[in-house]
Amino acid sequence: MDSFHYESVGLPSPSETVGKVITCKAAVAWSPGEPLVIEEIKVDPPQKMEVRIKILYTSICHTDLSAWQGENERQRSFPRILGHEASGVIESVGEEVEDLKRGDHVVPIFTGECGECAYCKSDKTNLCEKFRVNPFRSVMVSDGKTRFSTKEGKPIFHFLNTSTFTEYTVLDSACVVKIDSDAPLKKMTLLSCGVSTGVGAVWNTAKVQSGSTVAIFGLGAVGLAVAEAARGRGASKIIGVDINPNKFIKGKAMGITDFINPKEVVDVRLHQKIREMTGGGGVDYSFECVGNLDVLREAFSSTHDGWGLTVILGIHASPTLFPLHPMELFDGRRIVGTIFGDFKGKSQLPLLAHDCMCGKVNLDEFITHELPFEKINDAFRLLVDGKSLRCLIHL
Ligand code: APR
Ligand code: ZN
Ligand code: ZN
Repeated sequence: MDSFHYESVGLPSPSETVGKVITCKAAVAWSPGEPLVIEEIKVDPPQKMEVRIKILYTSICHTDLSAWQGENERQRSFPRILGHEASGVIESVGEEVEDLKRGDHVVPIFTGECGECAYCKSDKTNLCEKFRVNPFRSVMVSDGKTRFSTKEGKPIFHFLNTSTFTEYTVLDSACVVKIDSDAPLKKMTLLSCGVSTGVGAVWNTAKVQSGSTVAIFGLGAVGLAVAEAARGRGASKIIGVDINPNKFIKGKAMGITDFINPKEVVDVRLHQKIREMTGGGGVDYSFECVGNLDVLREAFSSTHDGWGLTVILGIHASPTLFPLHPMELFDGRRIVGTIFGDFKGKSQLPLLAHDCMCGKVNLDEFITHELPFEKINDAFRLLVDGKSLRCLIHL
């Protein structure tokens, strides 16, 4: 029965690969902004507490774009295998891995959960002492080495604890979540980052209540996941803000009730417009899903004094600081950041997957394109041009 299961997802027999180096195809980023090169690489077997995964699907998130473009100096580790949204099946596990086994359907998570540190044991955070997301780390946590190399033996760096633009990847088991084998892996790919981040920001970070008003800045997959979750929570007004009006069509289907294109707001500041649209007071919650300081400032000023809450989801690569006078916080507006929507990945993602399968969160609208692995550079282009939400790459 097991062998049939493996074959159905294209796993080679254990004697071919387990404990051995695998030669497979990967999309390697050699330098900032240059097209990824699909080439044969070597992937080492998983070490203690690590897992090697055969990736079946991966997609591209804005964070991959930023790293590929080398937006942040300290992130420039090349050659590198990018990618962090994916799904796949375990090919083999390293010593002492007890909660995962060959054949398990899994989703990688860029911010891990070891389950044992003070952070993992606390219900106040989803950060982990050892495996929390670190965009500047490009090697394995356990030994500071890479598990990828070129055919000539040159090391290839890792990305965000995951590196999914490859047929096989090695991760710490703390960054691998087992998903019910009945769940469609294709859609589960979205839970690796974007959708979980947006949904969790609403459910866990803001705890949006029924009847409340919401403004979402940036209507990519992350912002639209916020919309989908806010709609599910019964928000009465969901204002979507984006400079690309094409996003408005999709946004409507995902619960957005009002749209603003900032380019068309000329006579007043954006936050004044939003306050006007909410009876003068401002929204109860605003979500920044762009990664732009000016946008963040508008998002902050758009909320209602006394109780307004701004949640930061966008990644701000710029070293410029956020302009906020401390006295402004006496007006009762709060601001908070969220990583992975405050979900503890290993323990809570299976529940979110279940909620998605039951229809509590609709994942269908997020996959706007699908392409074979060879066309991964076209998928980057679609995101750069604002044409896709998520382009699913089939490996
Ligand atoms: N004002 C409003 N919207 C903007 C602005 C702006 N100044 N600049 C860009 N946008 C919009 C884009 O038009 C796009 O629709 O923000 C959206 C960003 O969407 P994507 O590029 O698809 O990014 P996404 O994957 O959703 O990630 C959003 O969250 O996880 C982080 O690193 C990620 O910072 C990124 C953010
Ligand atoms: Zn992401
Ligand atoms: Zn931990």
